[in-house]
Amino acid sequence: MLDHFDQRRYLIPFRSLLLPHIFTDTLVIGSGVAGMRAAIEAASPGDEGAGDTAGEGGRDVILLTKDRLDMSCTALAQGGIAAAHHEDDSVDAHFQDTIDAGAGLCAEDAVRTLVEEGPGAIDELLGWGMRFDRDEEGEISYGREGAHRRDRVLHTDGAATGAELVRCLAQRVSDEERIRVFDNCFALDLLTNAANGDRGDQRVLGAITHHPQYGLQIIWAKATILAGGGAGQVYRETTNPAVATGDGLAMAYRAGALIADVEFVQFHPTTLYVAGAGRWLISEAVRGAGAHLVDRRGRRFMSEYHEMAELAPRDVVSRAIADQLFQSQEPAVYLDVRHLGSEFTRRFPSLAETLQSYDLDPAKDLIPVHPSAHYTIGGVATDLQGRTSLSGLYACGEVACTGVHGANRLASNSLLEGLVFGKRAGRACREMDEESHGPMRIISDIPMSERGELDLIDVRSSLRSAMWRNVGIERSGPKLKDVSDMFNFWAHYTLDHIFDEPMAWETQNLLTVGALITRAANWRCETRGVHCRTDCPQRDDALLQHARWRVRRPEPIISSSEP
Ligand code: SIN
Repeated sequence: MLDHFDQRRYLIPFRSLLLPHIFTDTLVIGSGVAGMRAAIEAASPGDEGAGDTAGEGGRDVILLTKDRLDMSCTALAQGGIAAAHHEDDSVDAHFQDTIDAGAGLCAEDAVRTLVEEGPGAIDELLGWGMRFDRDEEGEISYGREGAHRRDRVLHTDGAATGAELVRCLAQRVSDEERIRVFDNCFALDLLTNAANGDRGDQRVLGAITHHPQYGLQIIWAKATILAGGGAGQVYRETTNPAVATGDGLAMAYRAGALIADVEFVQFHPTTLYVAGAGRWLISEAVRGAGAHLVDRRGRRFMSEYHEMAELAPRDVVSRAIADQLFQSQEPAVYLDVRHLGSEFTRRFPSLAETLQSYDLDPAKDLIPVHPSAHYTIGGVATDLQGRTSLSGLYACGEVACTGVHGANRLASNSLLEGLVFGKRAGRACREMDEESHGPMRIISDIPMSERGELDLIDVRSSLRSAMWRNVGIERSGPKLKDVSDMFNFWAHYTLDHIFDEPMAWETQNLLTVGALITRAANWRCETRGVHCRTDCPQRDDALLQHARWRVRRPEPIISSSEP
């Protein structure tokens, strides 16, 4: 029998021809680094000599943002952008560090593309006026983060890189006449020319959207780029903003796209832990600058877990902290930057300000931290041009899975991924030769449910807690099975109801994504990268495979070569 979250094609009932229509060449859903970079590229006239179809001209683009352009995971990103940009660095060294972090599952062609196109992506940003931190001689200063063997992370104001990147790209977006930005616009579902999402051969024709002022609308597009970001909000503890509810992943799944490697969720080791307060990320760059991780008594513990101590790969540090917390039964360990004196505030002014707002003085106080969900490594399976398994649908950034991160993402590779693969997806849409398909008659009929309704706020918070406790840093088969059953029960009462507002649709999406992550985590009976199974604690190379999930198929499609 199908799980309940596999049964719904669209979240709401509608008749496409009765709704207002909007037309565009390229619809970009999501406005973080990947979405903005894709929109800029799709709209631009192309670049002779760079392999582009010169003279083709740019495309009309609609860029949808669920909130505002400056409200995304990108805007909150701290550490920076990793790229082999410094003359003492090399793309081969960046390649090797990325492959080593990825625990055997990186797609090597994707990694090669990322590291080779990285320095050019940085030069492009410099040309567009992005400001990076520089030393006294005015040279760019490159920072070090976990599992990088070289200093190669470019940053702005210490740990406010995302804000400056968003400023730079948003300026470029607003300068581009062919891009229209739709603020506060919630994409509910991708439209396809087949009634059900169980076939992989349908074409994506655009999306059905909701705007608080204009209501439901249909945006018909020759190409749709999904850049909706990750799903950190599926966990109770997360560094992600409230908008990161996995909508892109859930709608792609409902439409029939292949979803790869979703069991791999990265947990950031150091989120500020002040009971009741928001979970502020304390950048890995702080450990790169020499911070120590200590327990309540001030004892450093990381060298017991890894030779790189505080700069070990993120999964190692997160698990070490989880182990310390389990042993001590305390809610937090501590970052100690007291030995850095005023240097900390000079290098990380925005972090110092955040700490000060909680009466923490980094020159005198230990900073309480614990791990939390940070990055969705798996996602909508794509090739190197961002093409998904559905024609007309592209994906880039955190919502996508190119295989570039394997089973564990190297620090600060994600902004670079958004730049490199966002540009590629935008270019592929600019160069495609596609007729318009809309408007088409699409009918979504959903019978009224006779089942009782569950309190959605309660479902949302219970599912986030269940994910954190059972599908978090450590997982085990029996608990994953229990959580799957629980999600199926909630889905029974939640996914067959019709709601009319974004909070409810987000909850339905969270339930779908949570169930998918749990299903995939249950399937992978081994420990690899960020996926740690206490009941299968070893790596099992028989499972050196990508698992791809499609709606209405309870078993994955396995591939050893591509995600
Ligand atoms: C950080 O600043 O620690 C986060 C950077 C990243 O997620 O790559």
